Parts: sequence; C-alpha cells; structure tokens
Amino acid sequence: MATMFDDDYVFRDLTREPTPAPIASAWQAQLAHPSGTLGWVAGRVMALANRSRNHWVVDGLGLMPGELVLEIGAGPGVGLARAARTGALVVGVDHSEAMVAAARKKNRRALAEGRVRLVRASAGTLPVASESLDVVFSVDAVPYWDDLFRGLCEVRRVLRPGGRAALAVRDPEWGPRLVSGMRAVGFHDVEVHTRADGSTCVTGWASEGV
Ligand SMILES: C[S@@+](CC[C@H](N)C(=O)[O-])C[C@H]1O[C@@H](n2cnc3c(N)ncnc32)[C@H](O)[C@@H]1O
Repeated sequence: MATMFDDDYVFRDLTREPTPAPIASAWQAQLAHPSGTLGWVAGRVMALANRSRNHWVVDGLGLMPGELVLEIGAGPGVGLARAARTGALVVGVDHSEAMVAAARKKNRRALAEGRVRLVRASAGTLPVASESLDVVFSVDAVPYWDDLFRGLCEVRRVLRPGGRAALAVRDPEWGPRLVSGMRAVGFHDVEVHTRADGSTCVTGWASEGV
C-alpha cells in the first residue's frame, strides 16, 4: 500500500485525482475574500506564492521617493512592503479584515513611520480623492473584483493625469480584457508585459481630461 512518503502516492494524489469541487470552490472563496482560520492560511500561501510576482510588478513601476501609491487587494502586504522600500508613500486597501490585519503585521514598522497606510475598502469604492495619486497597482486581485469596469473607473478616477497603473494577473487570458478595459476608462499607451510563468501585467498612463 502506498504511503504519504511514497513518490507514487504523491504523484497520484496531486496530479491525477481532481480536487473535489467543494474544496476548490471554498479555496477560491478564500482567495477572493479571506476570512477566519482558512483565510489566515490563504494569506500565508499568497505571501509565498505571489512574492516574486509582487516584486516583479513593483520593481517594474520604477517608484520614486515621495510618490503617492495605492495598492488594491493588498492581501498579506508583500507588494506594499516592496513599494514602501522605494521611499514612496503607499496606501493599501483590501476588503478582507483578515488581510488588512496580516498586512498591518508585515508592515508594522513602515506603518509606525507613516510610510504605509492600510484601509479596509473595496475596489469599487476607493476611499481616495479624485486625481490624487501618482501610481495604482494590483497583483492577482482583479479577477476577484465584483465589477471589473467599476473597479477600472475607480483606478482612473484616483490617478492624476499622467499617473500610471499596473494591473497584474496570473492568467494571461486576462490580458486582452484588461487592455480594452483600461483604454475604455481613459488610459493611453496601454501595454502588456508577460513573464515566463505566464504572469501578465497590463500598464497604462492616465490620460488628460477624462
Ligand atoms: C489572491 S489575493 C492576492 C493578494 C495580494 N495582492 C498578493 O499578491 O499576495 C486577492 C486579494 O484581493 C482582495 N480583493 C478581492 N476583491 C477585492 C475587492 N473588490 N476590493 C478589495 N480587495 C479585494 C482579497 O481580499 C485578497 O486579499
């Protein structure tokens, strides 16, 4: 009989047997809105699984000291921490109380020094004044937004003309939707950047007079 320490057991278990749908959907629900114990686990998994994706996106933005930056769907706060290291002033929003708490823990020093702020809020109703920010970014959160168009309108609203946005997803199939959505709400020079693992980041510049 195979045991957990047997390669064949692990191979069969992880790659041949489909994950039961209820577990898969419960896990998806946690990625979309982490809560409770499973949400805490989801936060730890995200922090590891999305670490290099967050660094890729933030480093690509070329943030400057003093720039005002917003991350939407900050999760456990890995992207916020990377952004704050540049000297930018960074606000993170997430609609999950558990993730705001996790991100606070990870960024406690930057929070105490006033370089990071965290707010529980939704992508569709950002608690930020219009045309007040230099940069908005989001990593692996857009696919979970309830209303993509409304979220994109909010991204455009809070950016000053000439500000920039970077919206990253794991699945490259999201690229065309994000490109057309960003153009529709008032971004120009919209570009798709793809990493070897398929991670896709769509960037654009907020147009004047939208
Ligand atoms: C898969 S996690 C990614 C978290 C983080 N960006 C990272 O890369 O580790 C998705 C995050 O987006 C947040 N989220 C999903 N929909 C949201 C919305 N409409 N408004 C704000 N946050 C949202 C979830 O609570 C979750 O923390």
